[in-house]
Amino acid sequence: MSEIKNIRDQFISKLENDLSIDQINEIKTELFGKNGLISSKFKTIGSIPDTDRKKFASDLNQAKDELQNLITSKINELEGKKINEKLEKEKVDITLPERPFVRGKVHPVSQTIDEISSIFSEIGFSVEEGPDVENEYYNFTALNTPDNHPARDMHDTFYLDENKEFLLRTHTSPVQIRTMLKDKPPFKIIAPGRTYRSDSDQTHSPMFHQVEGLHIDTNINMGHLKGCLNYFIKEFFEVEKIKMRFRPSHFPFTEPSAEVDIGYEIKDGKIIIGEGDKWLEILGCGMVHPNVLKNVKVDPSKYQGYAFGIGIDRLAMLKYGINDLRAFFDCDYRWLNHFGFDPLDVPSNYRGLSR
Ligand code: DAH
Repeated sequence: MSEIKNIRDQFISKLENDLSIDQINEIKTELFGKNGLISSKFKTIGSIPDTDRKKFASDLNQAKDELQNLITSKINELEGKKINEKLEKEKVDITLPERPFVRGKVHPVSQTIDEISSIFSEIGFSVEEGPDVENEYYNFTALNTPDNHPARDMHDTFYLDENKEFLLRTHTSPVQIRTMLKDKPPFKIIAPGRTYRSDSDQTHSPMFHQVEGLHIDTNINMGHLKGCLNYFIKEFFEVEKIKMRFRPSHFPFTEPSAEVDIGYEIKDGKIIIGEGDKWLEILGCGMVHPNVLKNVKVDPSKYQGYAFGIGIDRLAMLKYGINDLRAFFDCDYRWLNHFGFDPLDVPSNYRGLSR
């Protein structure tokens, strides 16, 4: 066996062992260093007899290539391993720690307003808005409630100036006036919003909510009003059958005027709408007074219609079993969590109002 082959075999088997990079580098020096085994063989090429030189050089080059390749690949392999081990050790968890996802709840009053809007829009009402800070004219005078009219006292008004010109609106009825002044008849609108009166106990809060309704056209009568309210109450309480009672009443802006009660009973601590012999007042309504129409330049001999004002908070309390009105405005987060609604469940007549 030639000496070159000897060296080759010996070192190849040496390199098969489990070696460190340093040990491999030592072998590299042993073979290819200045006086390395292979390097020094190259130096002897000149002294080899002509006949053998070619073969000797070729064997030597082959052994050199083989050993060098093996050394390079072993070193690459070990370095790769080293990098991977380092990466493994230095791995950082870049994901954030899991945090509980808290989704806010929709307040029962907002939910109720959405439900009411959905029900009325289904039968052709559009939604109007008016300002909370009103002036005396829109809140009273234009609604056929002139100065010194006793109805003004009943409203427990919060006035904002000494002249009693500006006030916090005591009802949503001024939106009737604003709507009729800015457009031409027919009108078919609802106007939900905040209202204010200086009054506070278990069923009254200084700030509360109403929804106004107004339907003016050439041929509207009290039958339309009854039909509309009947439909609304059934849809709102999601019941087939309701008991509704119109009691004669007085509002300066309607003639005739009525207050509407709905029949209910309490069974096992729960309010059942549409049964029993108890009555609960939920709204005021009537046929719009001709003076109101005149005030907004609508001809009462041609147009007439009905209006109504519903207390939203009371409806929400009834539907959702909330027995103290003041809880609505306490901003107690636990209360809201319990009585609030999922913001993704938007009320609609098709999908259900209060799922
Ligand atoms: N604005 C009245 C109130 O707050 C409620 C009301 C009664 C509104 C009759 C109306 C109506 O539109 O026709 O007491």
